[in-house]
Amino acid sequence: MNKYKGVIFDLDGVIVDTAKFHYLAWKKLANDLGFDISLEQNEQLKGVSRVHSLEQILKWGEKTIPEDEFQRLMTSKNEDYLVKISDMSEDDLLPGVKKVLDFLIENEVPFALGSASKNARPILKSLKIYEKFNGIVDGNDVTKAKPNPEVFLIAAEKLKMEPKDCIVFEDSVAGIKAANTAKMISVGIGEEKVLNEADYIFADFTEIDLGFIEKIVRK
Ligand code: BG6
Ligand code: MG
Repeated sequence: MNKYKGVIFDLDGVIVDTAKFHYLAWKKLANDLGFDISLEQNEQLKGVSRVHSLEQILKWGEKTIPEDEFQRLMTSKNEDYLVKISDMSEDDLLPGVKKVLDFLIENEVPFALGSASKNARPILKSLKIYEKFNGIVDGNDVTKAKPNPEVFLIAAEKLKMEPKDCIVFEDSVAGIKAANTAKMISVGIGEEKVLNEADYIFADFTEIDLGFIEKIVRK
């Protein structure tokens, strides 16, 4: 039997600093519609699928729009976002992430991606880490968005691990809820006051030492 648990990483805001570009793209969309989105509101959008994010934003702005306009806004937000991340390279891995990935690889600890983003695969390729994952589950593979645990449960299957033997790294409230509902170990990356439901919380990966990883992944 494998002596290690499996690790599941969220993408945006955990592996790479794309969370700010999602925010900027949504903010621009809201501003064009005549209102604004605060950083506090943005916390509720993290981890949330594109379609649910737009529904939530329109609610905040008290806007009702026809379906074709909804689709147009989804496309234009994504185009705007893709321009913002177009020059991404391996230098854009968040500080401390590479050290953890290298440790997992050296110790043959399996790890997967569990992301709401439909852009996850090309982003992993730009970061030159696509091949390193033992499984990838993204917004194209799920029918239910976080906080539903589906994305992490499929990732656990890909790792051939029981949910209780999976550790999830997440920066969003929705993602921490999803991990907890799946009965996985949740590690929040971000602010304690936002991610207080997580089992462990760190500001970022530079705060995580390999001793912690070694301890937490051991079965
Ligand atoms: C999540 C982000 O990872 O993916 C959300 O936290 C984003 O902000 C969601 O809306 C969907 O991403 P995409 O790339 O499919 O629009
Ligand atoms: Mg995230």
